[in-house]
Amino acid sequence: MALVSAKEMLEKAVAGHYAVPAINLNNLEWTKAVLKGAQEMNSPIIVQVSEGAGKYMAGFKNVADIVNNVIENQGITVPVALHLDHGTYNGAYKCIEAGFSSIMFDGSSLPIEENLAKTAELAKVCAEKGLSLEAEVGAIGGEEDGVVGMGECADPDECKKIADLGITMLAAGIGNIHGVYPEGWPGLQFDVLQAIKDKVGDMPLVLHGGSGIPEDQIKEAISKGVAKINVNTECQIAFAEATRAYIEAGKDKAGKGFDPRKLLAPGAQAITDMVKTKIEIFGSAGKA
Ligand code: 13P
Repeated sequence: MALVSAKEMLEKAVAGHYAVPAINLNNLEWTKAVLKGAQEMNSPIIVQVSEGAGKYMAGFKNVADIVNNVIENQGITVPVALHLDHGTYNGAYKCIEAGFSSIMFDGSSLPIEENLAKTAELAKVCAEKGLSLEAEVGAIGGEEDGVVGMGECADPDECKKIADLGITMLAAGIGNIHGVYPEGWPGLQFDVLQAIKDKVGDMPLVLHGGSGIPEDQIKEAISKGVAKINVNTECQIAFAEATRAYIEAGKDKAGKGFDPRKLLAPGAQAITDMVKTKIEIFGSAGKA
């Protein structure tokens, strides 16, 4: 199945009160493992790369080729959107060119007028090409690709302004942070989420920093309009732990256990298992 825009899957998620997992990719193993998990659960899936991960994977064109080829080779039939995560203005155009089906333009660090102007321009371009577009206001905290936000909460009025530009989905800070949540993290700010939802209506909302948020908070966020939840760190930790266990058990020294096809297999399985767990919690199982 060819890549699809995230628009339809997110509209269905809002209507059906569940969320579609958006899983960050890091390499070929990740791509195979994530798509396998989605297929086994019959769930729609968004796979995404940051600009740093795109560079690591030898460019956006290569990312699109890998995802398309894995879809074909593994017989993936569930809807798959290939999305740029936290894109710059130039990165957004590069991914449109490379064949991505969904784009995030993150202008949250820009003055709001500039963020609105660039988002409006990209909304037009994406609409013409049938691509979905995610915009962001209120930088999301934590560290990602060297970009550090302050974990602030978005201003609901700014959310309304950007939501009205013809975007598909909106990322708005509600106390969420990328990476591992620090000790004493106060949790998601549901009053802010509700205020945003009241302003933007049925616009699908995006929860970044999905790793490590307690299940009850995830479910409450979904009930208040969150329809896309980004997960990266938990897959990375699961991969690292499974790989470490393999090596600590001395398996790389037994027979041909050093063969990367064997060495990386437990980590890949751990990613598939993590994706399946997230699909279960987010409620997207069987919604393909
Ligand atoms: P985590 O790494 O905290 O799961 O966040 C992923 C993310 O939000 C990507 O944009």
